[in-house]
Amino acid sequence: MSVWKTLLKIAIHAPSPHNVQPWRVRILSESQADLLLEKRRTLPKEDHTGSFIILTMGLFIEALTILAANRSLALSYELYQEPSRFTPEHIAKAEDELLPFAKLTLVPKDTNSISTALAQDARAPFDETLFFTRRTSRISLLPKAIPPTDVEALSNLAHNWGQAYSQVTSPELIEQILEHNIDALFHDLNSPKYHDEIVEWFRFTDRQSQRERDGLDYRCMNSSRTSFWLAARVPQLMQLPIARPWLKKIYRKQLGLVPTIGMLAGPFWDPASAFETGRFLMHFWLELAKRNLYLHPYGNLVTNKAAAEWCREAIGISDIWLIFKIGFSDEPPESYRRSIEEVLVD
Ligand SMILES: Cc1cc2nc3c(=O)[nH]c(=O)nc-3n(C[C@H](O)[C@H](O)[C@H](O)COP(=O)(O)O)c2cc1C
Repeated sequence: MSVWKTLLKIAIHAPSPHNVQPWRVRILSESQADLLLEKRRTLPKEDHTGSFIILTMGLFIEALTILAANRSLALSYELYQEPSRFTPEHIAKAEDELLPFAKLTLVPKDTNSISTALAQDARAPFDETLFFTRRTSRISLLPKAIPPTDVEALSNLAHNWGQAYSQVTSPELIEQILEHNIDALFHDLNSPKYHDEIVEWFRFTDRQSQRERDGLDYRCMNSSRTSFWLAARVPQLMQLPIARPWLKKIYRKQLGLVPTIGMLAGPFWDPASAFETGRFLMHFWLELAKRNLYLHPYGNLVTNKAAAEWCREAIGISDIWLIFKIGFSDEPPESYRRSIEEVLVD
């Protein structure tokens, strides 16, 4: 198998918002490949600035870089266009379905010429099994605090990438954050553009999940098939005065025990920062996996304006781009990935 296929087989387990897996790859030679972005796997209605999809491409390049480094190969990339060309407006105008994102080149690692970033990676390699144990955990967390040494390591890692990691452990504030998350989610599911875009990625049956191998699978959402279906098909129930409190209770129960909420803050909203931030997020999430920690992002707290404003005030941090429950949990269900044959382009 070509080295690209070997790397890709593992890298496709990288996370992406709604599990859209926007990456496509054209192998050009043993040492070169093109990374492309698949237009229909972007989220223009929710990701207004394109930052989340650009982040995902950075994250995928970093996954390949880490995996290549484990094989004594250095991966370099050259962007075909500035990240700012991947905003929803630009993507909508593009005629092609596959948009060239970066040229990737593999070279044997020369220890004399490696960059500082690669040298740092070499000091802290991520075993590739971590790409499989790293998962989003939407199940209940265990009643266990994150060891202070882990908090310190995560904070230092974020700091080294120009980001900040902070966490909240006050049960009162956590409950308030969760309540705002639920309100934002219920509101957004009743906003037609958001609703139609996300529901396209809902996978309601095992058959559908196994056929598509992408999107948000009801098993992984820690939801019963019925409530997942109701949320998608009858979101108006969430606005009805009689049903709303009851549905909020059900959803809160679904979120389970949340001893800690974590936040990542820093440059993100301009496209070039989003790309770098994606590279960082791959490291951060693997670092969690190394420590048997899981996270579950609460995206609506960032993308819903009112909720984001509330978070800014209540938490006192202005540039949060990811907020999530974080901690130990039992092993969550594995979400599917498209095969490398589906990712590869001729
Ligand atoms: C930038 C980013 C934002 C995400 N936001 C959310 C979110 O708001 N809610 C959620 O349940 N999962 C969120 N996820 C998790 C993805 O849905 C998840 O990575 C994907 O379904 C694949 O599952 P896995 O992480 O278990 O491999 C996010 C992932 C990324 C990379």
